[in-house]
Amino acid sequence: MTPATSLFTPVEADLQILADNLKQLVGNRHPILFAAAEHLFGAGGKRIRPAIVLLISRATMLEEDITQRHRRLAEITEMIHTASLVHDDVVDEAQMRRSVPTVHSLFGNRIAVLAGDFLFAQSSWYLANLDNLEVVKLLSEVIMDLATGEIQQGMNRFDSSLAIETYLQKSYYKTASLIANSAKAAGLLSDVSPEIAQHLYSYGRNLGLAFQIVDDILDFTSTTDTLGKPACSDLKSGNLTAPVLFALEEKPYLEVLIEREFAQEGDLEQALTLIQDSQGIQQARELAAHHAKLAAEDIAVLTPSEPRQALTDITEYVLSRLY
Ligand code: IPE
Ligand code: IPE
Ligand code: MG
Ligand code: MG
Repeated sequence: MTPATSLFTPVEADLQILADNLKQLVGNRHPILFAAAEHLFGAGGKRIRPAIVLLISRATMLEEDITQRHRRLAEITEMIHTASLVHDDVVDEAQMRRSVPTVHSLFGNRIAVLAGDFLFAQSSWYLANLDNLEVVKLLSEVIMDLATGEIQQGMNRFDSSLAIETYLQKSYYKTASLIANSAKAAGLLSDVSPEIAQHLYSYGRNLGLAFQIVDDILDFTSTTDTLGKPACSDLKSGNLTAPVLFALEEKPYLEVLIEREFAQEGDLEQALTLIQDSQGIQQARELAAHHAKLAAEDIAVLTPSEPRQALTDITEYVLSRLY
């Protein structure tokens, strides 16, 4: 059991149903698209987003069982996430995801772009079929945000003047928006009050930011084997994340290396050493911890229960991935 799965105990049975459903939902319209989707859903994703949706569903439905709509929302959330990864891997030219070769490296870029589109379209269709206009609005905004974040990141490559606020905004679009809006949507399906819905959104936003900052730290500190996806790839491609942005304040020479896009022999290695020798990684950890703490405060508004406890523990799990 990974640390994540033991946290998901209150919704373990729900996640099993989800895993079976996801493959079926993708349907069989075209063998290649089906193979691409099947390939990804079969691989070892952490399923943290659907687990959060299911835990919130259970934590807000303490007197009764969760509905088919709650379950479908969890499935849609994982589908949107997976679609974004298929496109992200094309943009990042990543060869590995969830410890298996990426869709584009197996089937080519054209198929990967179409497979991602197909998954987004499929999730929109299931979303519309929830027959809840407010939930449709929340999740369709997420799909816009994902593209916005990916475009912002592409535009800001190798820009050493990038502000940490801009980085956080991009991280909201790319990562936190989905967790925030699906968390709120789960609450809406349970008819929570507008105040609770707002706290659920804020929980997802803060948790999502912490999650992305941690992912960005792990890109520097972990290995491809452990991550199941390429390590040490953000800096090389000019994606300047929290550890670099903090390190830049301390090590001005980093700016020179970044601005010339590591064109000279040894530039990238030198930049990595400068970052390791700075407080950048530590400061990024503190920023992640700050958002995780805010998330824990947000979720404390719910009535105490086993699923609520799991949602609190997830805020710590996100940080514990660093150790
Ligand atoms: C990867 O998300 C993309 C980020 C937002 C960092 P996950 O780390 O949740 O990926 P899977 O679903 O477990 O593969
Ligand atoms: C998050 O960004 C991915 C998406 C939300 C699409 P990253 O580019 O950091 O994700 P990884 O590291 O490739 O999983
Ligand atoms: Mg990527
Ligand atoms: Mg990453």
